[in-house]
Amino acid sequence: MKIRKTMLAAFTFCAVLAPLYLLSGASIQAGSDKPYVEKGHKLFKQYCASCHGLDAKGGGAVAASLKATPADLTMIQKKGEKFPINQVLVAIDGEKTARAIEAHGDSQMPVWGTVFRRTGGLQKDNYVYALAKYIESIQAAGK
Ligand code: HEC
Repeated sequence: MKIRKTMLAAFTFCAVLAPLYLLSGASIQAGSDKPYVEKGHKLFKQYCASCHGLDAKGGGAVAASLKATPADLTMIQKKGEKFPINQVLVAIDGEKTARAIEAHGDSQMPVWGTVFRRTGGLQKDNYVYALAKYIESIQAAGK
């Protein structure tokens, strides 16, 4: 009985805890933005492409009917400068922004922070971060 318990503990460690540890370690390492970028790309196609376009350059299907032109999201980073991730996080979240992006926040278009809090719960900040990471990955100046 005792041996069984020990074996069970050893098995639990190897099968469950060790991979979890490795996974969490892997996501802390630098250069592991890939999962966020992929998640962000999916979210982008789902929530953002209608206005910003699938290529994020601003020519989405409903762009023409908007008062403001959707920003070209591939041009946010200026040459020789770092990607302004905080500014982009705030712009997407919408709830923290002083400069509200009108097209994101009118009655038909709730701010994304609120949308994601409703659909994703605790995932909200992850969604916003994933989108920012995706946008960072498509910067013209970053290539
Ligand atoms: C209803 C159309 C619409 C949708 C959908 C939309 N946007 Fe926008 N977005 C705009 C418009 C219009 C602007 C530019 C107006 C402004 O900056 O005030 C903008 C601006 C932005 C900016 C600021 C760019 C800059 O230069 O600072 C970011 C970042 C952004 N959008 C990201 C997103 C993301 C991410 C999504 C999906 C979650 C999204 N947008 C969905 C219309 C839209």
